[in-house]
Amino acid sequence: MTLRMGTIILLTTLALLTGCATRDTASGDALYQDLGERAGIANIVEDLLYRIVEDERIAFQFQGIDVVQFHTNLTDQICEISGGPCTYGGRPMTEVHTDMNVTETQFNALAEQLVLAMEDNGVSTSAQNRLLDRLVELHPQITHR
Ligand code: HEM
Repeated sequence: MTLRMGTIILLTTLALLTGCATRDTASGDALYQDLGERAGIANIVEDLLYRIVEDERIAFQFQGIDVVQFHTNLTDQICEISGGPCTYGGRPMTEVHTDMNVTETQFNALAEQLVLAMEDNGVSTSAQNRLLDRLVELHPQITHR
């Protein structure tokens, strides 16, 4: 192998490795971008709120809530979970949801409305699924045990 060829192979390998490394460390951040950053997430959460109110499977649970607080906190939570530069400042998930006795059906209904809200905001299916994967980790803290 000539020196030149060796150099080219080495550089190509390095470029591939660097590319992979960059993608790995920024994987959370990539989802944040795919959701349209905080402004995009805020729009999704706003649409989710409209959808919740129209969904008789879950609307009753949200009666009388502080809508602005819910909007801010869920937006920050999704921003943080997706790798964005936000810090969730709301209450712990268990504390918020325990007394509601959230059922599986209700959890799925909310997830379904979130998917539709993301769809309406042009979020790709891949990004939708990546966010759902991360939110599912919160499932045990939210549903009734
Ligand atoms: C992936 C699923 C869910 C996530 C990530 C989530 C997240 C959140 C967050 C971040 C808040 C704001 C907490 C705060 O302001 O301190 C909240 C509040 C609330 N959540 Fe959930 N939630 C989920 C599922 C559900 C479901 C399935 C229901 C009921 C059907 C529900 C009902 C509520 C209600 C009523 C509030 C307002 C509570 C209050 O302000 O007193 N959540 N949730």
